Amino acid sequence: MTAYLILETLVNPISRQIEKVIQANEKSVEWSMLHGWDGIADPAIVARQAALSLVLRALICHRLVPGILPTQAAPPDPIVAQSNDLLRALGITLRPPSYLDDLAVQAGTRIDMLAIDRLAGVLPDQQADIIGEFYARSVPQDARSPLGQFWTPLPIAELMTQWAVRSSSDRVLDTASGSGVFLLTAIRRLSQLGVAPGAASRQVAGVELSPLALLMGLTNMLLHCSTAQPRLRWGDFLMPEREPLALLKEPAAPYHVGQQQLTLPGMEVQVPLAFPDRFDTILCNPPYTRHHHLPESYKSTWAALMKQEYGIRLSRFSSLFAYFLVQTTRMLAPAGRMAFITPAVIFEASYSRQVKEFIRQQLRLCAIITFDESLSIFEGVDTAACITLMEGPHAERPATGQITHVQIRRWPGPERVLRAIERSDVVSDKWGVSQKVTLTDLSPRQKWTVVGRRNHRIGHDAFIPLSNVARIMRGIATGANKFFVLSDDEIQEWGLSRAYLRPVLTKTREAPGYVFDHRGFERLGSEGKKRWLLYLNGPVAPGTPEARYVQHGETLGLHQRSLVKTRSLWYVMERRDPAPIYFTYLSRKKSRFIYNRADVLALNVFLCVYPTASIGQDETTLKALLAVLNSLVAKDSLRYVGRTYGGDTIKIEPIVSPEFRKFEHN
Ligand SMILES: C[S@@+](CC[C@H](N)C(=O)[O-])C[C@H]1O[C@@H](n2cnc3c(N)ncnc32)[C@H](O)[C@@H]1O
Repeated sequence: MTAYLILETLVNPISRQIEKVIQANEKSVEWSMLHGWDGIADPAIVARQAALSLVLRALICHRLVPGILPTQAAPPDPIVAQSNDLLRALGITLRPPSYLDDLAVQAGTRIDMLAIDRLAGVLPDQQADIIGEFYARSVPQDARSPLGQFWTPLPIAELMTQWAVRSSSDRVLDTASGSGVFLLTAIRRLSQLGVAPGAASRQVAGVELSPLALLMGLTNMLLHCSTAQPRLRWGDFLMPEREPLALLKEPAAPYHVGQQQLTLPGMEVQVPLAFPDRFDTILCNPPYTRHHHLPESYKSTWAALMKQEYGIRLSRFSSLFAYFLVQTTRMLAPAGRMAFITPAVIFEASYSRQVKEFIRQQLRLCAIITFDESLSIFEGVDTAACITLMEGPHAERPATGQITHVQIRRWPGPERVLRAIERSDVVSDKWGVSQKVTLTDLSPRQKWTVVGRRNHRIGHDAFIPLSNVARIMRGIATGANKFFVLSDDEIQEWGLSRAYLRPVLTKTREAPGYVFDHRGFERLGSEGKKRWLLYLNGPVAPGTPEARYVQHGETLGLHQRSLVKTRSLWYVMERRDPAPIYFTYLSRKKSRFIYNRADVLALNVFLCVYPTASIGQDETTLKALLAVLNSLVAKDSLRYVGRTYGGDTIKIEPIVSPEFRKFEHN
């Protein structure tokens, strides 16, 4: 049986038993809050977490003192108690007494220690992170995403580690260690540099907020390195002086900034394993938690800190990785190296300007590595990834005034990428391109992921601008959507005539696929959605339902709004024909060109694409155009134009491929 199957066979029956004892209480609410889940946690998910946690504890006991637990069906109480004692002896106190342990004890589920023995026998031989993989498959993606629980693929972690760890004396930190991929690659790298594995493990430290993820990292370390003395801390890396659960209860926790920040959070250290203030190497895949999920205390505290320490006003729209970057930098030795993997928006979103200013001011940027859209780095996640390699301000290497920009099309393994970074010339190969960009060319206003990367499609004979074959306009701006767009019930209530109404799409999520047809439009009606646009083209006749509705709008003061005031009659709508194609331009990664088969109009969250008559009137050619526009080639071209978040700078340019031209000519 494979390691994964043994793990599954152990966890599944336990989780079914645990699920029966789960109740909604204060502890379950706290657990839910810790994970950023809305409302009560899903008992099936929590039960799987609790079962995995118990199995990991049993593995730890077995690994550290084989035979310490009963050989067959071991009850949960001694598993929890013994694992706690053994870990304490290693200097690790798991806090708080985990909700998951309480559930396992309450359910009284026993563990087959022979299966644990088999698992402990096969797991150390696995390169892949079976425990992390099992967790990722047991807990759905949306339940993992508030804490950003997406693991770095091993080859990527190896690349980052090989670049960042250079000497056998390097002290390494992963500031959000999860199931421990960087902890393991760092130990392996230090061993390659001549350090004995046990000693290497003492040079590697990690911080993790989720007690279960911490346990995963710990187990992985102990299984893969029998003499490991892990230096892991449970806690919030950003708020070291407070415990996460306490913090979550307080909407605006005060937070003192100063030297003491540089001691790490969480557990009491009982053996002399104190963390140093600064690390030679920091490896990080920070959680990608969006700003609207962040506690107010993070935003206000970090905004104040950035202003006070660096004179930079961090945008309130920043995602969690921006705060991680700042806090991590504060722990980096002046000549240390830091490798971060983040979504590419770190250099593309409009709020990223301050992050770029920070990097320019505080660090030495060495390389940015991006991946083609077709290379999905994080399983199931539709986010372009980017690796940033940086050094402290006093790096040994003399500053060259240049950075390396690597674009990977096909994964070539870490060695080739590392060699390309070290070289001073351009490398162009099947796997990708590496070139030098002068630092002065990197202004914080630009997208650093594409600077220096030439879009070879622009100006290439085989590609033509979309504007050659289509006219593009933004969708209709009503000036007051709630008033001008109505549901079926509202139309009936006001008695409005269908002659003054047009079917309309108001939100991109209302047209979820690549085709929007009559059935989709009918569905909006049956869901009670607003789907009719009041489309008046001249003065309303007194006494009509339309006049009464306009009067109602005036009572609401809508006629005074800035956009509608510019019209000759405030309620006369701007004119558009239904476009054959709508483009959801506000989201780059999920952007789609939608085939409008329902002849609907669209509001300004869409761009209207009107192909020339020869394309628009022939359905096959139109579909061919749509296929090209929705291809990865087109999506990649979109990276070069516009901003990530809307505004008026969106341009969609050179994205029609040779295949399409041939099609058109034939
Ligand atoms: C993107 S994962 C990276 C895990 C691992 N380093 C890897 O690369 O596979 C981020 C991890 O950070 C943890 N985390 C989230 N918020 C945190 C915080 N404020 N402090 C410390 N860890 C946190 C999550 O539980 C998750 O395990």
